[in-house]
Amino acid sequence: MKIKDARILITGGSSGIGKAAAKLLSAEGAKVAITGRDKVKLDKGAAETTSIAIHADVAKEGDIETTYKIIEEKLGGLDCLVNNAGIGEFPSLEEVTVEAFMKVYSVNVFGAAMMAKKAAEIFKKQMSGNIINIASTAALKGFARGTIYSSSKFALRSMTECWQAELRPFNIRVMQVNPSEVTTAFANAERKERDEVANKLTSDEIAHAIKSLLEMDDRGMVPEVTVWATNPFKSN
Ligand SMILES: NC(=O)c1ccc[n+]([C@@H]2O[C@H](COP(=O)([O-])OP(=O)(O)OC[C@H]3O[C@@H](n4cnc5c(N)ncnc54)[C@H](OP(=O)(O)O)[C@@H]3O)[C@@H](O)[C@H]2O)c1
Repeated sequence: MKIKDARILITGGSSGIGKAAAKLLSAEGAKVAITGRDKVKLDKGAAETTSIAIHADVAKEGDIETTYKIIEEKLGGLDCLVNNAGIGEFPSLEEVTVEAFMKVYSVNVFGAAMMAKKAAEIFKKQMSGNIINIASTAALKGFARGTIYSSSKFALRSMTECWQAELRPFNIRVMQVNPSEVTTAFANAERKERDEVANKLTSDEIAHAIKSLLEMDDRGMVPEVTVWATNPFKSN
């Protein structure tokens, strides 16, 4: 796909990976819209990335309807959905609650699916489109205290495979990016961005992976890419 003039919707684009992707894709000439829950942060992120701000929570079906209405009004269509919005809860097994499961699944699983459902309607009609799911290395391997988060990302990975099977005949690419640890505000109670750490990834590497997947000619599709830091044993 040509990035220039492509219409791209990134959920959770007001910080971290989504914001870095919005910035990079906008700089390459794409028309980008970002969503987020915190309006002040969202408006700031949109200004910094030359994107359209859509104040919307992917866990709310009404907000998803509004998101796609605004996309139609402001972009006149869509070429790519990046399902990036995601949250984490990391209780031990004995601390797990259905409420905590629902909180995370309503964003990482149900929200991503409902966003993709609307995108698929558009993409099927035009016989083209891209969905990029931002999962995690937690989608590949479980870990202690990962009951909720890791299982939500395993679910996302399984949906990626289902959508690939369903949508590939319509010339729609469904791709997944699995970042290992990235120094963002992720799982930070105060929602503050973390300082860069020498042996960990930054959001820019993940943004680069997203751009690379998209700019390949449409005849090619990379089903999944995992991004690791190269120097895990180096101290800061
Ligand atoms: N950081 C890592 O180490 C890492 C590793 C692997 C995968 N990931 C995945 O990467 C994705 C992005 O995370 P990040 O590290 O960039 O974290 P981040 O800095 O916390 O960014 C998350 C973004 O999603 C938004 N968001 C959260 N819930 C939302 C909702 N219900 N509706 C709409 N927007 C929502 C946040 O905005 P608000 O603050 O306004 O809600 C923010 O813009 C997530 O799916 C995460 O699971 C992260």
